[in-house]
Amino acid sequence: MKKSIVVFASGTGSNFKNIIKKIKLHRLNAQVNLLVSNNSNCKAIDFAKRNNIETFVYNSKIYPNDLNQDILLQNLNQYKVDLILLAGYMKKISKTIVRFYKNKILNIHPSLLPKYGGKGFYGMKVHEAVYKNQDKKSGATVHFVDENYDTGPILLQKEISLLPSENSLTIAKKVLDIEHEIYFQGVSLFCSDKIHWKKGKLLIEE
Ligand code: GAR
Repeated sequence: MKKSIVVFASGTGSNFKNIIKKIKLHRLNAQVNLLVSNNSNCKAIDFAKRNNIETFVYNSKIYPNDLNQDILLQNLNQYKVDLILLAGYMKKISKTIVRFYKNKILNIHPSLLPKYGGKGFYGMKVHEAVYKNQDKKSGATVHFVDENYDTGPILLQKEISLLPSENSLTIAKKVLDIEHEIYFQGVSLFCSDKIHWKKGKLLIEE
């Protein structure tokens, strides 16, 4: 059975676009039913519209009183949701939503978690810190989302080596390439039912 996916994105949406590309190439048994964004002007929204994917713009300006994100949850509940993918989504998901969709929300993070995770570490901020600390390696992590920032169970992680000549922009580009690779792999494991949970521990079927 095809998995029904909802993607959350705030910006360029290259991870979102990559998932759509893999679906079009029949490399994922899935469909994306909805794109949620906090930013009505972002490229991810444009891309969703061009691809006839429904969009929902959700932010505190439009819904100032929705502190637990109940309106967002109600909106999601109108769809069949097997999996939620955070793809460059820069807002926190409420406990209400995380609990409702337990073990069904994945995030891609541009570092080797737990390094450079947590509030304040996102997007270029991560790569700037890696550069400043002259790290010799970086990478990306696909993990399930729990109630805190970037602390949920890790599904996949891939490391890259950095050259001394690297700057934060070249690091970002290299990391983004492997994000696309491992996010696809993670989503593929989910869509082929190869992810299992035993006493709260994540198990990946060979
Ligand atoms: C990606 O590097 C993603 O890992 C990062 O934002 C970028 C979005 O790129 N996400 C985070 O930092 C989340 N904490 P994209 O819009 O091109 O997919």
